[in-house]
Amino acid sequence: MAETSQRRGVFLTGAAGGIGAALVRELTQRGFVVFAGIRHNRGTLEGLSHVVVVPVDVTDPGSVADAAERVSRHPAAAHGLHAVVNNAGVIVQGPLELVPPAELRRQFEVNTFGPAYVTQAFLPLLRQGGGRVVNVSAPTARTPLPLLAPISASKAALQALSDAQRLELAAWHVPVVLVEPGATETPIFASADAAAKTATGAADPQRVALYANHLAAFAEVMAKQKNGPVDRVVKAIANAVEARNPKRRYIAGPDARALGTLSKLPAGLRERLIASTFKLSKVTAGAA
Ligand SMILES: NC(=O)c1ccc[n+]([C@@H]2O[C@H](COP(=O)([O-])OP(=O)(O)OC[C@H]3O[C@@H](n4cnc5c(N)ncnc54)[C@H](OP(=O)(O)O)[C@@H]3O)[C@@H](O)[C@H]2O)c1
Repeated sequence: MAETSQRRGVFLTGAAGGIGAALVRELTQRGFVVFAGIRHNRGTLEGLSHVVVVPVDVTDPGSVADAAERVSRHPAAAHGLHAVVNNAGVIVQGPLELVPPAELRRQFEVNTFGPAYVTQAFLPLLRQGGGRVVNVSAPTARTPLPLLAPISASKAALQALSDAQRLELAAWHVPVVLVEPGATETPIFASADAAAKTATGAADPQRVALYANHLAAFAEVMAKQKNGPVDRVVKAIANAVEARNPKRRYIAGPDARALGTLSKLPAGLRERLIASTFKLSKVTAGAA
């Protein structure tokens, strides 16, 4: 096994979370040194070899700049970085009419602006190392879903940033790759549900009542959702990191592939299928 200073380096955000923590392990096993960007230390990375923990809040450009500076001083980054993986993310959900402005901003700060700040700060290291950007998106970037408007919009914007920046960075041969995981068993859904309940609890009860039937239908669909294994997504991201010539997009999971197919259907048909899947076809307006 190579010493840490001889390994190629990857900087990863959200490294303490479900997909991120497993990805740290996978990348070290594939021979990389991982600069693990974490906001809160959850002890998930304790005792791992070839892992350098780097505090970072992706919504704070100053914190991101500090993280890039810290990584650049490490011997394992002396020749730059092989990849940056923008993995940190949150789900903000609920009927858009009921989502508080601060929650909408948080959605875009973490999922869209965060990756932009991180990529800006780390590009000197990526140019130096002949590296790549890997942005963890979601299938809702291409097929937005009801009561998931904020997360869908944040990932659609991330996809637009990625597609535009891929063309800008071609001059330096820095690929920009998107990964679309299907629904995956991590704490992200419980966190989203808790945040949505707090937001709904603080909203005008009369407005909440208008959506009572929508919220009940959504809860039913989410309760039946089958989440895939973390491992499948981790492999797809690690392949995007490792491939000699990475593809523009990696899709992990049959549900992600199905949503990608839906995005190509005529809008009327697509919306009927989504409304039926989300049990909204027969949902009526709640009584205020
Ligand atoms: N799970 C799925 O079904 C699924 C499907 C499609 C796409 N994705 C995407 O996959 C990525 C990873 O999600 P996951 O399922 O592993 O979720 P997770 O278990 O909730 O992990 C998300 C990670 O993001 C970090 N994070 C949140 N806000 C941050 C901030 N401001 N600065 C730095 N880090 C921050 C969290 O740190 P804290 O612990 O400190 O909050 C956590 O470590 C996300 O981009 C998500 O959108 C997930």
